[in-house]
Amino acid sequence: MNIILLGPPGAGKGTQAKRLEERHGMVQLSTGDMLRAAIAAGTELGRRAKAIMDAGQLVSDDVMVGMIRERLGQPDVAKGFILDGFPRTVPQAEALDRMLAGIGKKLDRVIEMKVDDAALIDRVSGRFSCKKCGAAYHDRYNRPKREGVCDVCGGTEFQRRPDDNAETMKTRLAAYHSQTAPILPYYRERGLLATVDGMAEIDEVTRQLEAALKA
Ligand code: AP5
Ligand code: MG
Repeated sequence: MNIILLGPPGAGKGTQAKRLEERHGMVQLSTGDMLRAAIAAGTELGRRAKAIMDAGQLVSDDVMVGMIRERLGQPDVAKGFILDGFPRTVPQAEALDRMLAGIGKKLDRVIEMKVDDAALIDRVSGRFSCKKCGAAYHDRYNRPKREGVCDVCGGTEFQRRPDDNAETMKTRLAAYHSQTAPILPYYRERGLLATVDGMAEIDEVTRQLEAALKA
Protein backbone atom coordinates (compact mmCIF):
# COMPACT_ATOMS: atom_id res chain seq x y z
CA MET A 1 0.00 0.00 0.00
CA ASN A 2 1.02 3.58 -0.58
CA ILE A 3 -0.21 5.99 2.03
CA ILE A 4 0.20 9.51 3.39
CA LEU A 5 0.16 10.30 7.11
CA LEU A 6 -1.03 13.86 7.36
CA GLY A 7 -1.10 15.90 10.53
CA PRO A 8 0.32 18.87 12.41
CA PRO A 9 3.81 18.91 13.98
CA GLY A 10 3.89 16.42 16.85
CA ALA A 11 0.73 14.58 15.73
CA GLY A 12 2.56 11.25 15.87
CA LYS A 13 3.30 10.74 12.15
CA GLY A 14 6.84 9.53 12.74
CA THR A 15 5.86 7.31 15.69
CA GLN A 16 3.11 5.58 13.73
CA ALA A 17 5.08 5.39 10.46
CA LYS A 18 7.82 3.43 12.25
CA ARG A 19 5.20 0.97 13.54
CA LEU A 20 3.62 0.50 10.12
CA GLU A 21 7.09 -0.01 8.65
CA GLU A 22 7.77 -2.83 11.12
CA ARG A 23 4.37 -4.50 10.71
CA HIS A 24 3.84 -4.18 6.98
CA GLY A 25 7.34 -3.81 5.55
CA MET A 26 6.49 -0.52 3.88
CA VAL A 27 9.14 2.23 3.78
CA GLN A 28 8.78 5.51 5.67
CA LEU A 29 9.55 8.54 3.52
CA SER A 30 9.98 11.39 5.99
CA THR A 31 10.97 14.66 4.34
CA GLY A 32 11.86 16.10 7.77
CA ASP A 33 14.31 13.21 8.35
CA MET A 34 15.75 13.66 4.83
CA LEU A 35 16.34 17.36 5.50
CA ARG A 36 17.93 16.63 8.88
CA ALA A 37 20.21 14.08 7.16
CA ALA A 38 21.25 16.79 4.68
CA ILE A 39 22.00 19.14 7.58
CA ALA A 40 24.05 16.45 9.35
CA ALA A 41 25.98 15.77 6.12
CA GLY A 42 26.74 19.49 5.78
CA THR A 43 25.47 19.77 2.19
CA GLU A 44 24.59 23.11 0.58
CA LEU A 45 20.90 22.14 0.67
CA GLY A 46 21.23 21.27 4.36
CA ARG A 47 22.80 24.64 5.15
CA ARG A 48 19.98 26.51 3.41
CA ALA A 49 17.24 24.32 4.91
CA LYS A 50 18.54 24.59 8.49
CA ALA A 51 17.72 28.29 8.87
CA ILE A 52 14.21 27.76 7.49
CA MET A 53 13.50 24.71 9.70
CA ASP A 54 14.89 26.36 12.84
CA ALA A 55 12.47 29.24 12.19
CA GLY A 56 9.58 26.77 11.80
CA GLN A 57 8.83 27.76 8.21
CA LEU A 58 8.40 25.55 5.16
CA VAL A 59 11.22 24.77 2.72
CA SER A 60 10.30 25.65 -0.89
CA ASP A 61 8.04 23.39 -2.93
CA ASP A 62 10.70 23.01 -5.67
CA VAL A 63 13.29 21.65 -3.28
CA MET A 64 10.83 19.28 -1.57
CA VAL A 65 9.30 17.96 -4.80
CA GLY A 66 12.81 17.32 -6.16
CA MET A 67 13.74 15.43 -3.00
CA ILE A 68 10.66 13.18 -3.14
CA ARG A 69 11.00 12.61 -6.89
CA GLU A 70 14.49 11.24 -6.35
CA ARG A 71 13.39 9.09 -3.38
CA LEU A 72 10.42 7.61 -5.29
CA GLY A 73 12.90 6.47 -7.95
CA GLN A 74 14.62 4.09 -5.53
CA PRO A 75 13.76 0.36 -5.66
CA ASP A 76 12.64 -0.15 -2.02
CA VAL A 77 9.58 2.01 -2.70
CA ALA A 78 8.10 -1.03 -4.48
CA LYS A 79 7.33 -2.51 -0.99
CA GLY A 80 4.82 0.31 -0.49
CA PHE A 81 5.51 3.66 1.14
CA ILE A 82 4.34 5.86 4.00
CA LEU A 83 4.77 9.53 3.22
CA ASP A 84 5.42 11.42 6.47
CA GLY A 85 5.64 15.20 6.16
CA PHE A 86 4.98 15.37 2.43
CA PRO A 87 2.94 16.81 0.77
CA ARG A 88 2.61 19.94 2.91
CA THR A 89 1.09 22.35 0.39
CA VAL A 90 -1.45 22.05 -2.43
CA PRO A 91 1.28 22.46 -5.11
CA GLN A 92 3.19 19.58 -3.47
CA ALA A 93 0.04 17.41 -3.51
CA GLU A 94 -0.49 18.17 -7.20
CA ALA A 95 3.16 17.47 -8.02
CA LEU A 96 2.92 14.15 -6.14
CA ASP A 97 -0.06 13.08 -8.25
CA ARG A 98 1.90 13.83 -11.44
CA MET A 99 5.01 11.99 -10.18
CA LEU A 100 3.04 8.90 -9.16
CA ALA A 101 1.17 8.81 -12.48
CA GLY A 102 4.55 9.04 -14.24
CA ILE A 103 5.88 5.91 -12.48
CA GLY A 104 2.60 3.96 -12.62
CA LYS A 105 1.80 4.13 -8.91
CA LYS A 106 -1.16 5.45 -6.95
CA LEU A 107 -2.12 6.45 -3.44
CA ASP A 108 -4.31 3.99 -1.51
CA ARG A 109 -5.12 6.14 1.55
CA VAL A 110 -4.46 9.53 3.07
CA ILE A 111 -4.84 9.44 6.84
CA GLU A 112 -5.34 12.60 8.83
CA MET A 113 -4.12 12.47 12.44
CA LYS A 114 -6.15 15.01 14.41
CA VAL A 115 -4.65 16.53 17.57
CA ASP A 116 -5.39 19.76 19.50
CA ASP A 117 -2.77 22.50 19.27
CA ALA A 118 -2.19 22.62 23.07
CA ALA A 119 -1.39 18.89 23.18
CA LEU A 120 1.03 19.30 20.27
CA ILE A 121 3.15 21.86 22.09
CA ASP A 122 3.33 19.52 25.10
CA ARG A 123 4.32 16.61 22.85
CA VAL A 124 7.15 18.28 20.98
CA SER A 125 8.57 19.90 24.13
CA GLY A 126 9.06 16.43 25.67
CA ARG A 127 10.21 14.64 22.53
CA PHE A 128 13.57 12.94 22.07
CA SER A 129 14.71 10.34 19.57
CA CYS A 130 17.29 7.61 19.11
CA LYS A 131 20.43 8.96 17.46
CA LYS A 132 20.98 5.69 15.59
CA CYS A 133 17.53 4.72 14.20
CA GLY A 134 15.41 7.82 14.78
CA ALA A 135 12.72 6.12 16.92
CA ALA A 136 10.73 8.83 18.73
CA TYR A 137 10.19 8.93 22.49
CA HIS A 138 8.62 11.30 24.99
CA ASP A 139 9.73 12.28 28.50
CA ARG A 140 6.31 11.35 29.92
CA TYR A 141 4.17 9.57 27.30
CA ASN A 142 6.60 7.18 25.67
CA ARG A 143 9.81 6.33 27.46
CA PRO A 144 12.06 3.47 26.32
CA LYS A 145 11.13 0.20 28.07
CA ARG A 146 14.67 -0.02 29.47
CA GLU A 147 15.88 3.37 30.65
CA GLY A 148 18.52 4.77 28.29
CA VAL A 149 18.20 2.00 25.69
CA CYS A 150 16.26 2.31 22.40
CA ASP A 151 13.44 -0.27 22.15
CA VAL A 152 13.94 -0.60 18.40
CA CYS A 153 17.70 -0.84 17.83
CA GLY A 154 19.33 -0.95 21.27
CA GLY A 155 21.04 2.41 20.70
CA THR A 156 22.07 4.30 23.82
CA GLU A 157 22.41 7.85 22.49
CA PHE A 158 19.44 10.16 22.14
CA GLN A 159 18.91 13.65 20.72
CA ARG A 160 16.44 16.56 20.73
CA ARG A 161 15.46 18.74 17.78
CA PRO A 162 16.35 22.45 17.69
CA ASP A 163 12.87 23.29 16.37
CA ASP A 164 11.12 21.56 19.29
CA ASN A 165 10.43 24.58 21.47
CA ALA A 166 7.25 26.50 22.24
CA GLU A 167 8.32 29.59 20.25
CA THR A 168 9.13 27.77 16.98
CA MET A 169 6.05 25.59 17.45
CA LYS A 170 3.83 28.68 17.04
CA THR A 171 5.22 29.24 13.54
CA ARG A 172 5.10 25.52 12.69
CA LEU A 173 1.44 25.30 13.76
CA ALA A 174 0.57 28.46 11.82
CA ALA A 175 2.25 26.97 8.72
CA TYR A 176 0.23 23.77 9.19
CA HIS A 177 -3.12 25.55 9.49
CA SER A 178 -2.54 28.00 6.63
CA GLN A 179 -0.54 25.91 4.13
CA THR A 180 -1.00 22.20 4.91
CA ALA A 181 -4.60 21.85 6.17
CA PRO A 182 -5.92 23.10 2.77
CA ILE A 183 -4.78 19.81 1.21
CA LEU A 184 -7.35 17.88 3.29
CA PRO A 185 -10.25 18.82 0.96
CA TYR A 186 -8.02 17.93 -2.02
CA TYR A 187 -7.87 14.30 -0.82
CA ARG A 188 -11.43 14.23 0.55
CA GLU A 189 -12.75 15.10 -2.92
CA ARG A 190 -10.74 12.18 -4.33
CA GLY A 191 -12.27 9.76 -1.80
CA LEU A 192 -8.89 8.97 -0.24
CA LEU A 193 -9.18 10.67 3.15
CA ALA A 194 -9.68 8.88 6.48
CA THR A 195 -9.30 10.49 9.91
CA VAL A 196 -7.95 9.00 13.14
CA ASP A 197 -8.04 10.43 16.66
CA GLY A 198 -4.43 11.41 17.24
CA MET A 199 -5.30 12.46 20.82
CA ALA A 200 -5.73 8.81 21.80
CA GLU A 201 -2.96 6.70 23.32
CA ILE A 202 -0.25 5.52 20.92
CA ASP A 203 -1.51 1.89 20.73
CA GLU A 204 -5.08 3.05 20.13
CA VAL A 205 -3.94 5.34 17.31
CA THR A 206 -2.18 2.34 15.74
CA ARG A 207 -5.42 0.32 15.99
CA GLN A 208 -7.40 3.10 14.30
CA LEU A 209 -4.75 3.39 11.58
CA GLU A 210 -4.84 -0.34 10.90
CA ALA A 211 -8.64 -0.16 10.65
CA ALA A 212 -8.41 2.76 8.21
CA LEU A 213 -5.97 0.80 6.05
CA LYS A 214 -8.31 -2.21 5.92
CA ALA A 215 -11.45 -0.19 5.19
P1 AP5 B 1 9.04 17.26 10.14
O1 AP5 B 1 10.23 16.56 10.62
O2 AP5 B 1 8.14 16.60 9.20
O3 AP5 B 1 8.23 17.75 11.42
P2 AP5 B 1 6.68 17.97 11.68
O4 AP5 B 1 5.72 17.80 10.61
O5 AP5 B 1 6.68 19.29 12.36
O6 AP5 B 1 6.29 16.78 12.56
P3 AP5 B 1 7.07 16.19 13.73
O7 AP5 B 1 8.17 15.31 13.25
O8 AP5 B 1 7.45 17.29 14.69
O9 AP5 B 1 5.94 15.35 14.47
P4 AP5 B 1 5.38 13.89 14.18
O10 AP5 B 1 4.01 14.01 13.69
O11 AP5 B 1 6.34 13.05 13.41
O12 AP5 B 1 5.31 13.38 15.69
P5 AP5 B 1 6.13 12.26 16.49
O13 AP5 B 1 5.72 10.91 16.07
O14 AP5 B 1 7.58 12.57 16.51
O15 AP5 B 1 9.46 18.66 9.48
C1 AP5 B 1 10.40 19.50 10.11
C2 AP5 B 1 10.62 20.75 9.25
O16 AP5 B 1 11.17 20.36 7.97
C3 AP5 B 1 9.36 21.56 8.89
O17 AP5 B 1 9.02 22.47 9.90
C4 AP5 B 1 9.81 22.25 7.60
O18 AP5 B 1 10.65 23.34 7.85
C5 AP5 B 1 10.65 21.16 6.91
N1 AP5 B 1 9.86 20.31 5.99
C6 AP5 B 1 9.68 18.95 6.09
N2 AP5 B 1 8.90 18.48 5.08
C7 AP5 B 1 8.59 19.57 4.32
C8 AP5 B 1 7.78 19.74 3.15
N3 AP5 B 1 7.16 18.69 2.57
N4 AP5 B 1 7.64 20.99 2.65
C9 AP5 B 1 8.26 22.05 3.24
N5 AP5 B 1 9.03 21.96 4.35
C10 AP5 B 1 9.19 20.72 4.88
O19 AP5 B 1 5.52 12.51 17.96
C11 AP5 B 1 5.79 13.70 18.69
C12 AP5 B 1 6.00 13.37 20.18
O20 AP5 B 1 4.77 12.95 20.76
C13 AP5 B 1 6.99 12.24 20.45
O21 AP5 B 1 7.69 12.53 21.61
C14 AP5 B 1 6.11 11.00 20.63
O22 AP5 B 1 6.69 10.04 21.48
C15 AP5 B 1 4.85 11.62 21.25
N6 AP5 B 1 3.61 10.96 20.83
C16 AP5 B 1 3.32 10.45 19.60
N7 AP5 B 1 2.06 9.97 19.57
C17 AP5 B 1 1.53 10.21 20.80
C18 AP5 B 1 0.26 9.93 21.38
N8 AP5 B 1 -0.72 9.33 20.70
N9 AP5 B 1 0.07 10.31 22.67
C19 AP5 B 1 1.07 10.92 23.40
N10 AP5 B 1 2.29 11.19 22.90
C20 AP5 B 1 2.53 10.84 21.60
MG1 MG C 1 8.20 13.43 12.47
